[in-house]
Amino acid sequence: DDAENEAQFQARIDAEEFIEPKDWMPEGYRKTLVRQMSQHAHSEIVGMLPEGNWVTRAPTLKRKMILVAKIQDEAGHGLYIYSGAETLGTSREQMVDDLHSGKAKYSTIFNYPTMTWADVGAVGWLVDGAAITNQIPLCRCSYGPYARAMIRVCKEESFHQRQGYESLLAMVKGTDAQKKMVQDAFDRLFWPSLMMFGPPDSDQPPSQNMKWKIKRFTNDELRQRFVDATIPQAEFLGLKIPEGVVWNEDTNHYDFPELDWDEFWAVVKGDGVCNDDRLNSRRKAIDEGAWVREAAEAYAEKQKIQQAA
Ligand code: 3HC
Repeated sequence: DDAENEAQFQARIDAEEFIEPKDWMPEGYRKTLVRQMSQHAHSEIVGMLPEGNWVTRAPTLKRKMILVAKIQDEAGHGLYIYSGAETLGTSREQMVDDLHSGKAKYSTIFNYPTMTWADVGAVGWLVDGAAITNQIPLCRCSYGPYARAMIRVCKEESFHQRQGYESLLAMVKGTDAQKKMVQDAFDRLFWPSLMMFGPPDSDQPPSQNMKWKIKRFTNDELRQRFVDATIPQAEFLGLKIPEGVVWNEDTNHYDFPELDWDEFWAVVKGDGVCNDDRLNSRRKAIDEGAWVREAAEAYAEKQKIQQAA
């Protein structure tokens, strides 16, 4: 019966075993994972948009090649994670429909505009940096397909983070205007990148996700880890550190001010600067690609008939 199944399930989790698609799992576990994995996949796909905005304006051929490769990696991550989520019994079509109807979420960060070339570097450094901080522990997520997907995704994100940082490093060695541009990108994107970790722990009941080992650390723990890693990197770039971010000798961590949670929830609910733009771009892509999918299906059908004959 269910209680017995549930006890066995939890015992396997406690013993650090992976749960696989055909194993028994509580409905809540399945639902939580479909939600988180589909949101994650949507973030990868929508995340291509702010960067795609700069492909035609990359300053050199080398930067353009790196940017295109990175965007292609994000597409790969999205498809990979959708496939992982499908093993839980929800189709990719359903998940994409939920994104386009506004029912499913994707990371708040992608509703902020990329206004200058320095923003593209800052996205690599801060956004991919925050993503790695969050995703390294997901390599030990209890759901096997998700955990395994994260190993490759994290390796690629690590390259993304370094290319972003390296491009900013080149800019801060450049003209005063370039340095100013990097500072401006940092000032605008630092706080939204901290919001990627989700609402504060104080908002949350003790997490079932942690008991199920979907999550290994709380949102605030990971946010702190990211701040501690990022501030020395900002200092190395010669950037001015935001007001209120100070090293605390007693805790051995950086203190930082409370984030603007009203802004966070407004962006989650669809009121960010770019929410409408992002969803419209995705809907348009699906509509305009319909003929390609139809042609591919017709071709596959024709091959099947020819093979049968
Ligand atoms: N943006 C949008 N929604 C967010 C959010 C954010 N930054 N942070 C939290 N939320 C949503 C949650 O999804 C949840 O919504 P729901 O219950 O209505 O679906 C609600 O706010 C409450 O938050 P919780 O902290 O309770 O939610 P979680 O336990 O799921 O934790 C999370 C949030 C840490 C983001 C977690 O879902 C997670 O680890 N997700 C996997 C990683 C991921 O999605 N990363 C996306 C980042 S970008 C990326 O990877 C692309 C790369 O190219 C940079």
